[in-house]
Amino acid sequence: MDYVSYNGEISKKPQMPLDQGFLYGYGVFETINVAQGKLVFFEDHMERLKQSALVMGLKLNRHPDQIQSECQQIIAKNTMIRGGLRVTLSKGVKADNLLITARENHYDRRMFEQGLKICTSDTIRNEKSRLVSIKSNNYLENLLILNEAKAQGFSEAIFFNTQGYLAEGCMTNIFFIKNGRVNTPARDCGLLAGIVRNRVIALLKTNQIPITEGYYSSDQLLAADEVFITNSLMEIMPVKQLDKRYYGVGSETLTTRIDTLFQQTWGQR
Ligand SMILES: Cc1ncc(COP(=O)(O)O)c(C=O)c1O
Repeated sequence: MDYVSYNGEISKKPQMPLDQGFLYGYGVFETINVAQGKLVFFEDHMERLKQSALVMGLKLNRHPDQIQSECQQIIAKNTMIRGGLRVTLSKGVKADNLLITARENHYDRRMFEQGLKICTSDTIRNEKSRLVSIKSNNYLENLLILNEAKAQGFSEAIFFNTQGYLAEGCMTNIFFIKNGRVNTPARDCGLLAGIVRNRVIALLKTNQIPITEGYYSSDQLLAADEVFITNSLMEIMPVKQLDKRYYGVGSETLTTRIDTLFQQTWGQR
């Protein structure tokens, strides 16, 4: 997956200036799922990118249709069937820069069937941070914590905020199920309102599956029957273990029912 698009020019090794994106992490991005060679939820991603750009004072000087066509060129050039595209908008010197890069999607069927093992982080998520609800290039804290979690055999680490309420993971949103009700942290808990999170909430409402966005303690999470996490590349991923606590996974669970509904409605996995 060597080919990238930099301000519309496709090449293997672009000349990139030392812009404020590089020097200060002044940029925003989207990770878009590519399934069966097609972009998934592209419009949702463009909408969020526009919002992020607005908040960060960046100028998206390309039309979403043009970005879509550049993404499709990168998919074709890299002969991608399954993977992810990252669209990064960064603060340039004269104009802002748009970079599109491609990567693999490492989530596999075995993970979906067995569920992931995740942990809680003792780093506090600051729900008042100006960056917490934006997909900005400032990912270092998340990355360091994720790497530490991985070194201990976990696939994700979950944050609580300054009030002790559940927030999200380093790269995912979190949902838990208790007595047939699905729960996920409210937007002001200190989280990125994920594209998949929003789609799952809409799907549950359409299918009359009870869903609450609220404020949850770690005890509530530990007492859950099932837990799943979401992001664009994994979509809905069951969790089998959180720290030392085990949860239900498998074909009989509500998580599987929700995943089936999701795949029937939008899926190309
Ligand atoms: C911190 C964080 N929260 C949530 C998500 C999920 O967002 P989405 O569903 O838009 O991929 C991500 C995705 O990378 C993330 O980095």
